[in-house]
Amino acid sequence: MGVTADFDLLQQKREKLQEAGGLSRIAHQHKQGKLTARERIHLLCDAGTFFEIDAFVEHDCQDFGMENRRFLGDGVITGWGQIEGRRVYLFAQDFTVLGGSLSAAHAKKICKTYKMAIQNRCPIIGLSDSGGARIHEGVVSLGGYADLFYLNVQASGVIPQLSLVMGPCAGGAVYSPALTDFIFMVDHTSHMFITGPDVIQTVTGEVISFEDLGGSMTHTQESGVVDLRFPDEISALQAARKWCEYVSPEPTVFVPLDETVVVERQRILNGIMPDNRTSPYSMHKVIEAVFDPESFWEMKPEIAGNLIVGWARLEGKTVGIIANNPEQLAGVLDVEASVKGARFVRFCDAFQIPLVTFVDVPGFLPGSDQERGGIIRHGAKLLYAFCESTVPRFTVITRKAYGGAYDVMNSKHIGADLNLAWPSAEIAVMGAQGAAKIIFRSEIQSAEDPKEKEKEMTAAYAVKFENPYIAAAKGFLDAVIFPEETRRYLIEGLHVCADKTVTPPIRKHGNIPL
Ligand code: HXC
Repeated sequence: MGVTADFDLLQQKREKLQEAGGLSRIAHQHKQGKLTARERIHLLCDAGTFFEIDAFVEHDCQDFGMENRRFLGDGVITGWGQIEGRRVYLFAQDFTVLGGSLSAAHAKKICKTYKMAIQNRCPIIGLSDSGGARIHEGVVSLGGYADLFYLNVQASGVIPQLSLVMGPCAGGAVYSPALTDFIFMVDHTSHMFITGPDVIQTVTGEVISFEDLGGSMTHTQESGVVDLRFPDEISALQAARKWCEYVSPEPTVFVPLDETVVVERQRILNGIMPDNRTSPYSMHKVIEAVFDPESFWEMKPEIAGNLIVGWARLEGKTVGIIANNPEQLAGVLDVEASVKGARFVRFCDAFQIPLVTFVDVPGFLPGSDQERGGIIRHGAKLLYAFCESTVPRFTVITRKAYGGAYDVMNSKHIGADLNLAWPSAEIAVMGAQGAAKIIFRSEIQSAEDPKEKEKEMTAAYAVKFENPYIAAAKGFLDAVIFPEETRRYLIEGLHVCADKTVTPPIRKHGNIPL
């Protein structure tokens, strides 16, 4: 054998890799509206930047005829590439090879990639499309999953982790995506569940489809497991590229705003607050008018719409936004919103993304459903998350900041750096009417005209507290600003807090109420 033959052999192996589990299986994958693992990586990475490792790994199972069913790479492609010039580690399961099932060798490849990503401090993206544990390998395969779970947790807070679920993801296998920071799904072709419809029917008698049980709508709208869903794989992969840019510490290039844009934004912000203090207005419009144009990207938009979370940019730098939404449930905090907000705050804090909080909150949602559902425990998560975060933190109170929700929503008292309020802010223990009924009860009851007295006392309470100036006089607010000044103040906040350092108490870890 000469060098030419050596080269030929490598070339043949490379060609063989392209065939994955076979041409007919690739055709079947396409017929189902799914791309192959290699096609997905091609779309995910900048052209020519993907470096594959462990392409020649094969399983070593000798049971059930598996000794004759070996494929180069063993059903998962691993390596690293670049996305808009930023390096990212990847693994993509290949359903055309034994259903993308996870053998010991397959797991070892993913774990090696994870270890490299952690050591080199690069984000990692996992593309799941798998029938789960390689049934032929039994407990060895379960061990492989556990090795991966362990690394998911070791990586948590060290490198950003994204899961793209692009096919089946069943049984205990769901826990790897669940341990990552964000999960995206593709409509109709991806499913996540612990126990499948057949098991559910046997155990409970309930008949349910894969789609209703673990489809993308279920997980974005009901369970809250998944952050975003996409109509097809290409848009999911484009979103993964965008995710990489948002979680990167490097700012994107910022083109200063045109003067006409500035004037238009100022007009929108100054005119957005309705005269009627209980009428809704669009917090999305507020966000759009404050941050870099078209930079806002909402996460989990289909669940707990009363709290908006997402990223935007300020002069190119990513910031995390948590905003009450007066257009849904008047912007109250409830169980789902608290959990959604807490997790987002903790992600941003872990990866040094400054936080901007917009507050218009009448309080926590009253009701026995909420109390029984653990609003105390779940609300405490959001409070805990803000209290422990050490990134630059800014707050803009646009209107209501009532009761405990005032404290929770990134108040000065819990460590925010720059607390701002618009002139329309109302900071009080509760709304004027409720407050007057309680504290002036006897005056109202004994009055000649109780209704008139209630009105009078409500107005008196409102005059006293429905404004930002008492909080400002106490230093609970750093400034009361015109809405049009919001962007300027936040940009200044980013600059002054650029080197913020907080030394948290020495401890093993805190005990967030779970
Ligand atoms: C080995 C598997 C496999 C698996 C699929 N295949 N899943 N091989 N182990 N887990 C193989 C099939 O035998 C088939 O090979 C090929 O992959 C394609 O599978 P199909 O069934 O033809 O595909 P499809 O009809 O699209 O159905 C996909 C599916 C189904 C719904 C995922 O394959 C399925 O139910 N698989 C088993 C799922 C499962 O029970 N997994 C174990 C879960 S327990 P051939 O050569 O015949 O075409 C688990 C625990 C993890 O994962 C725990 C971690 C702690």
